[in-house]
Amino acid sequence: MTSPNITRRLLPVVAALSAPALIVFVILVAAGKIDPWPALLGAAATLLLTALLLRPYMADVAAVARYARELGRGEEVAAPRLSTEVTADILSALCQFRRAWRLQGEEMASLIGFHETLFDSLPSPLFLLNAQRRIVRSNLAARNTFGRQQQGRDLAAVMRNPDILDAADRVLLGAAGVQVDFGIPGPVEREFRAMVEPLPHIGIDGTVAVLWLHDVTALKQIEQMRADFVANASHELRTPLAALLGFIETLQGPAHDDAEARERFLAIMYEQASRMTRLVTDLLNLSRIELHEHLRPAGRADVAALLRRVATGLELQAGRRKMRIELDLAETLPAVIGEEDELAQIFQNLLDNALKYGREGTAIEVTGRLTNDLPPSFAERNGPAIAIAVKDRGEGIAREHLPRLTERFFRVDTARSRRLGGTGLGLAIVKHVVNRHRGLLTIDSVPGEGSTFTVYLPVAA
Ligand SMILES: Nc1ncnc2c1ncn2[C@@H]1O[C@H](COP(=O)(O)OP(=O)(O)O)[C@@H](O)[C@H]1O
Ligand SMILES: [Mg+2]
Repeated sequence: MTSPNITRRLLPVVAALSAPALIVFVILVAAGKIDPWPALLGAAATLLLTALLLRPYMADVAAVARYARELGRGEEVAAPRLSTEVTADILSALCQFRRAWRLQGEEMASLIGFHETLFDSLPSPLFLLNAQRRIVRSNLAARNTFGRQQQGRDLAAVMRNPDILDAADRVLLGAAGVQVDFGIPGPVEREFRAMVEPLPHIGIDGTVAVLWLHDVTALKQIEQMRADFVANASHELRTPLAALLGFIETLQGPAHDDAEARERFLAIMYEQASRMTRLVTDLLNLSRIELHEHLRPAGRADVAALLRRVATGLELQAGRRKMRIELDLAETLPAVIGEEDELAQIFQNLLDNALKYGREGTAIEVTGRLTNDLPPSFAERNGPAIAIAVKDRGEGIAREHLPRLTERFFRVDTARSRRLGGTGLGLAIVKHVVNRHRGLLTIDSVPGEGSTFTVYLPVAA
């Protein structure tokens, strides 16, 4: 069946191809070589035959053209069936082109997918901005921090901080790059450093600038901790120093000849100077441990022998408060990887605390066992470990204080700790020694009943 479309296209081609034969007929008739009627018949036959011969080609060409148009519109259609060889050739070239094109499309899609994944896996929030300050795109970290609905919105709708908006505006007006620090209030306040940078070329999606946020919460916290530490350490040292100076002045002046006062003051001065010595010793220990905390100790240590030594050393102190240290250690407690001097500081500090904060007349239980009952992350890293638990019966520690207990200079009751000769650094030292030994410290406490400090240490191979 010939469609009207093909017929319309067929007619001029048939006319053009038959024109030479028709002209010959006209000349022959004009020259009187043939009669008009047979010539007319011949011309008609020529036209008809040309049309018949040409028709399948034209139908095929039309089918190929239709197919190409459908492909161009992205439609998934089957290739047409053709009846002529020349057009079949064109069709096969077209199909080849289509395959190459599709392959390229797939490569492009996977490349885009890869870049999207990469963009989303960046840990810092990132925004791409167009010239109107609208968000062209944002990564997963940005969406998680500032909400899901961002694309196409003005930056001001997502981030209200005026300094950032001002920085973005300046960059969009041609500034080289602007940096701003700001905080996001919330249950956990976060601090960010924002950088707005112009792109060297406008992106295909209209991106002209990038806003990048770097989470500096931890950095600021460390900065704050360092400042606090210096302030705390100075304050702790200044207190006994001021007392010493006061007593020295008194002894030089009004109490110069008072023998009884001198004895009393000297005793207090001795106590204050001892306190300063303890503080300086603890500070030095702490800084020494911190200095090589990243290096795991190489030696082996016999914790059972160590515990017996430390406990014996504290017997006098325990006796003063009518307390006992009861050791209950497994008979074959394996050796651990560690340095004995440092490990001794762990148990010295834990037992010292138990003796100070335990109730008078009670016993301190120290148990030592090989254990498999470990937190999963710790077990994965280390394999078997020994657990040393120091349990006292005392007033215990309220739950809210537990997370801060190992901070330097943190005490539940500062005045009381000072009175008992504490520096507030003992548990900080314990934590750092445990960290260096790739161990774990857990604290369980029931206010009114007592506390258990447990140290896990990986067993030496
Ligand atoms: N066994 C314990 N029972 C009750 N509170 C404790 C115990 N061990 C430590 N603490 C609390 O933790 C604080 C910090 O301990 P630590 O760092 O050893 O400092 P210090 O003993 O010098 O005060 C102590 O001041 C005390 O409030
Ligand atoms: Mg202590």
